[in-house]
Amino acid sequence: MTDIETAVLRADAAGIAEAARLLAAGGLVSFPTETVYGLGGDARNDIAVARIFDAKGRPRFNPLIVHVPDLETARRFARIDGPLAALATGFWPGPLSLVAPLADGHGLSPLVTAGLDTVALRVPAHPAAQDLLRVFDGPVAAPSANRSGRISPTTAAHVMAGLNGKLDAVVDAGACAVGLESTIVGGDPLALLRPGGLAQDDIETITGPLAGAGAGITAPGQLSSHYAPDATLRLNANTAHPGEVLLGFGPMQSDLNLSVSGDLIEAAANLFGHLHSLDAMARPIAVAPIPKCGLGQAINDRLARAAAPRG
Ligand code: TXA
Ligand code: MG
Repeated sequence: MTDIETAVLRADAAGIAEAARLLAAGGLVSFPTETVYGLGGDARNDIAVARIFDAKGRPRFNPLIVHVPDLETARRFARIDGPLAALATGFWPGPLSLVAPLADGHGLSPLVTAGLDTVALRVPAHPAAQDLLRVFDGPVAAPSANRSGRISPTTAAHVMAGLNGKLDAVVDAGACAVGLESTIVGGDPLALLRPGGLAQDDIETITGPLAGAGAGITAPGQLSSHYAPDATLRLNANTAHPGEVLLGFGPMQSDLNLSVSGDLIEAAANLFGHLHSLDAMARPIAVAPIPKCGLGQAINDRLARAAAPRG
């Protein structure tokens, strides 16, 4: 995508109001948390979430952490019970993300969860993050605000160095205290999915021993194979064979089209929703060729995983 003007906002009432306005308009806003600066977008807005992946240049659609101001708000999006509820009560707000089953009517973009039926939620403690989440009054998807493969940013200057021109604004509130991403816990049995800013020992005072990484869904690579449609997929198809439904891209005849105009951000935004819709038709799915540039790389990665034989 062509570069846009990136505003540097102060974490005062006017800056937070402008940041919230930009989020509501589908924009991308970097904001400080106590761990690292996040690259935030409205987690209900497919295009905003697709733009996060585009800005980061992520080669894959990993599920993103959704930020909310408190446990009560988190419960609009996920079922947080048992040990997860105890952890939320004990450590939120703070550097802990919890993976929990999606709640009915959650309204989150399927791109946020990468098509999974769980979501990672976090309640950051940083006052600027709290202010922004309360004024915006909606869920904010936010990975660290760096280009994929680069070091996570702990100042607004780091964010600008990596992403200037790729986001609408950054809220500058100085350096982050923790400097390490949040610890992620989830799964059944409850497992440490990512070590981070909250020590495992502290978590285990509440939960008892956690299962190690590897017990549940852990590495992004494993995660990616988790969502697969029931239907078989045939890639790089220009037309449908008899009995197939066709997922199109660009101007062409198709049952559903990722983007008639050939816009890869729009295609990413539509990807999981369209796959679910076609899957419901219980017929093999043919998928048109998608260019491999920009977000096309992540789209092709996801399609290849969905098309891979599974046992
Ligand atoms: O400190 C942090 O957590 C920072 C700040 C900005 O809050 N955020 C952050 O977000 O690191 P993100 O989106 O980069 O973290 C994504 C990771 C995924 O790679 C995956 O490991 C895990 O969160 N994750 C997200 N959703 C998941 C799910 N449904 N199941 C398992 N793991 C999930
Ligand atoms: Mg990161």
